[in-house]
Amino acid sequence: MSGGFEAKLLLAWRLLAVLVLLAGPLRAQEPVAARVLRAPDVKYEPSDMGVVRAMLRLAKVDKNDVVYDLGCGDGRIAITAVREFGARGVCVDIDPRRTAQAGANAHKAGVAGRIEIRNEDLFQTEIVGASVVMLFLWPDVNMKLRPRLLRELVPGTRVVSHFHDMEDWTPQQVVRIRANNRERNLYLWVIPPR
Ligand SMILES: C[S@@+](CC[C@H](N)C(=O)[O-])C[C@H]1O[C@@H](n2cnc3c(N)ncnc32)[C@H](O)[C@@H]1O
Repeated sequence: MSGGFEAKLLLAWRLLAVLVLLAGPLRAQEPVAARVLRAPDVKYEPSDMGVVRAMLRLAKVDKNDVVYDLGCGDGRIAITAVREFGARGVCVDIDPRRTAQAGANAHKAGVAGRIEIRNEDLFQTEIVGASVVMLFLWPDVNMKLRPRLLRELVPGTRVVSHFHDMEDWTPQQVVRIRANNRERNLYLWVIPPR
């Protein structure tokens, strides 16, 4: 082997070593928002804005409320609660694409300072701070969540569900609403005293 060829081979090895060393730190710098916790329990489908406002009116939201949206999608319920009803909002979604979108929308709407965005599982996230909880989930997810709502929410907290009920937990009020040529029920419960 000639001396020139050996020198080139050595240089190639060194370059490869440098690339391998650089790859570690670059991987470690991936944004936190790219973490996927696990697959969502419910597919994303935004509530129509007419439905959003009807849900907030049904719960009689005002400036003293902290409105949680468990499975918040693009953040429209929490953002509207802040912008149009003067409340504070907490937006929880397991899908980082949704929380990124909700954060951007909150900034655009000028309400980012009054909304907390959490990329968390709704079965794990803290909910005790809520005075209103909004849900647009699936029937089995509502039923799985129900014991947590009854155990952890402060008595008097209002819970509103778009579309799905909670079986034998009788709602205090049901509102029928038409949006996008579809009839939908909205349900209101109030957490009873313990
Ligand atoms: C039907 S969309 C409702 C979006 C929004 N609340 C609305 O009404 O416009 C349901 C949302 O729940 C989220 N989701 C599903 N399972 C979840 C879980 N275990 N924890 C948190 N979010 C979840 C989905 O990513 C999706 O954005």
